[in-house]
Formats: sequence, structure tokens, C-alpha cells
Amino acid sequence: MNFESNFDEDFNKIHRKRFNLHYIEEKLMVSPIKKFMLSFLELKVFKSFIKSCNSNLTGKNILEVGCGAGYGIEPIYRSFKPKEYFAFDISLKMVLLSAAKAKKKKIPVNVFLGDVKEIKLPSKKFDIVFVFTVLHHVEGWRDGLKEINRVLKPKGLLLINEINSRSLSWFERYLKVFHPKKAYFTWDEFNQGLNNAGFLILKEYKFLKDLGFFLCVNRRKN
Ligand SMILES: C[S@@+](CC[C@H](N)C(=O)[O-])C[C@H]1O[C@@H](n2cnc3c(N)ncnc32)[C@H](O)[C@@H]1O
Repeated sequence: MNFESNFDEDFNKIHRKRFNLHYIEEKLMVSPIKKFMLSFLELKVFKSFIKSCNSNLTGKNILEVGCGAGYGIEPIYRSFKPKEYFAFDISLKMVLLSAAKAKKKKIPVNVFLGDVKEIKLPSKKFDIVFVFTVLHHVEGWRDGLKEINRVLKPKGLLLINEINSRSLSWFERYLKVFHPKKAYFTWDEFNQGLNNAGFLILKEYKFLKDLGFFLCVNRRKN
């Protein structure tokens, strides 16, 4: 009997069930396709937002929420040379993958296990928060946005992308990839969630209508 592979299989099953991750989605998340998408689409759009605002974001405190397999760590580190860099995910498996990547590339990032609805970090710590397609897994996504706002400094920036309820319905119908219904949002609901959490949307871009990119500023003044 191969205990090691049984353990891996059980670990993967528990992991997917607990974190609302479908088998196909998890495969995509840890694949080179995701690495390519993150570097050549998602981060590129965010960088174009930053460029159009003439902001210099080098040497700041950065947080990445829901870092997954850690494909954002190297490009974010190399692009922004952060003073302090933290990244977390609710899944132990993803935290381990991210930490291993950072170690291999010798990138000084503090990777930890955490939940966006209750971020175990002090208020007003970060200049920039990155979130790459995480909140459509989170039933309390509105509370997650409020927590992100709490850990951001006044006038700090949030760079977030998400998929909306229309694309989630499509995944459900045609690929049988399910997400929690309470984490479905339309763009109007998402904009309202950002506003209620204390953000002002500075830039917005929709890729194929259903993948939305947002640059937001924390409206808090102190
Ligand atoms: C679609 S994946 C995206 C991963 C990564 N951001 C990327 O783009 O490669 C969603 C990630 O969100 C994480 N996640 C789900 N719920 C979370 C929560 N409440 N707090 C933090 N991370 C969460 C999952 O474990 C998963 O790694």
C-alpha cells in the first residue's frame, strides 16, 4: 500500500472541499497557464493603471491576498521592490506552494495562513494590496473588502480583479465548476461593496465583460 500517495490524495480532496475549489480550477491555479495569465494579463493591466496615475509604487509595503500557488510573488517583488511584502492564503497547500517558490527564488516575503475576512495584521500597515481573483470564493466578500480597507493606509491603493456572477453561472452550467452562491456578485453589487468598504474606484477595465479589473484608493484620510 502506498501511504504517501493516499495521503496526498486525501489532503487534496479535503483541501478542495474546504476552500470551495473545484478540481479543474485547482489544476488551472497551479499550472503554467495561470503563471502566464498573471504575469502577461492581470499584472500588466494593473501596471498600466499605475502608469496612467503617474504613481511611483517602488519601496512600499505590499500585501497580496489569496496568493494561491504564488505566481504573483516573483513578478510583484521584481516590479515594485517592496520595503515589506506579506502574502497569505486560506489554504495550507497554497501557502506551502507559495513559500517554496519564494524560498527557491530567494524572495523575502512573509507568507502565512489567513482569511481575508479576518486579516491578522495591524491596521494601516500597507500602501498597496493586490487581490487576483479571490473574492468569488468568499461568502463574506463584503467583510473581506472592509478588512482590506482596514489594513491599508489612508489613501493606500487596492488593485483587485474579479469575475462576476454571469461568468460563474457559465462555469457552473457548462463546466460543472461550482462556487458558493453567496459569493456571486454582479458588477453593480461589487462596485457597491467597494464603496461601502471605504474605497473610491479610480480606474476600471472589463476584459470580455466578465473579468473586471479595479484600481481603488482608500477614501480614509487618517
Ligand atoms: C482562483 S484562486 C487565485 C489564486 C491566486 N490569487 C492566483 O491568481 O493565482 C483563489 C485563491 O483564493 C484563496 N481563498 C479562498 N478563500 C479565501 C479566504 N477567505 N481568504 C484568503 N484566501 C482565500 C484560495 O485558497 C485560492 O488560493
